[in-house]
Amino acid sequence: MEIKKICVLGAGLMGNGIAQVCAQAGYQVALRDIEQRFIDGGMNTIKKNLGRDVEKGRKTQEEMDSILGRLKPTLDIKEAAGDADVVVEVVVEVLDIKKKVYTELEEIVPDHCLFFTNTSGLSITEMASVTRRPERFIGTHFFNPVPVMKLVEITKGYETSDETLEIAKEWGRSIGKEVIVVNEAPAFAVNRVLVPMINEAFFALGEGVASAEDIDKGMVLGCNHPIGPLALADLVGIETLLHVMEDMERELGDKYRPAPLMKKLVRAGRYGRKTGKGVYDYTK
Ligand code: CAA
Repeated sequence: MEIKKICVLGAGLMGNGIAQVCAQAGYQVALRDIEQRFIDGGMNTIKKNLGRDVEKGRKTQEEMDSILGRLKPTLDIKEAAGDADVVVEVVVEVLDIKKKVYTELEEIVPDHCLFFTNTSGLSITEMASVTRRPERFIGTHFFNPVPVMKLVEITKGYETSDETLEIAKEWGRSIGKEVIVVNEAPAFAVNRVLVPMINEAFFALGEGVASAEDIDKGMVLGCNHPIGPLALADLVGIETLLHVMEDMERELGDKYRPAPLMKKLVRAGRYGRKTGKGVYDYTK
């Protein structure tokens, strides 16, 4: 099967990055969200990223223009998905919302269309079960910032066909990523390891073990991480990490209990960079 047109559903942090790397690789991309301000935010980020590449001599202005020419922002789901070969769904990490989106999509997309879900760890099998195409449904998990991070973690659901897996792997490589295939399990492989570590950093901060700056400095200088776990939480979005921990706790037990401080920051609307404040304050 040849993929020509991709619909990316969701123009937020991950969605705009996925749309950018797909358009860079030569695909026609429709970027759809439910409000104009989300679309504008996503397109502005893409333009900023591409502009920086031009400034640094990594792309020409012509290349940037042709990438933007392949990107079509829209609010209209029928226009975005009606003739798509693949839908990459990047909506909020809440199973019931994702299922609702798939039920709606099923009435819009052509028969041959594949569904790729970008989830941090929700069940692929459960999402696929609400569609009429569970064999053409697969998990494709990207990492933030998408244009920089090299990995896509691919996960089959119970009914996903080998053919869909091969197409998804090939597509991942075609957009310049390395692919790992992991079995379906809560949080898959990378977040299974990463997110409890970040959660532990919130426990340590909440218990007064050290300051946020020193916890981060410790992990950067003591473990060679590129960025500390609390700064990373602000980059990813603390609300997303809380969803991942809550799912892991539900599926795997109390060992994965979210840190109270993580919950408190989410309740305060301090999601991280995207809201201006998280563990750190980005408004100053
Ligand atoms: N979008 C696009 N490009 C970006 C970017 C962004 N948001 N942020 C940084 N970059 C690029 C820049 O272009 C920059 O390159 P140039 O200077 O040549 O232009 C390069 O990345 C390095 O950026 P900086 O010098 O500004 O900063 P840095 O050296 O600290 O790198 C980082 C920034 C790449 C984010 C680095 O800190 C890092 O690798 N952090 C770890 C990221 C990580 O672990 N991501 C996974 C999160 S988990 C996840 O996403 C999954 C989930 O489900 C929760």
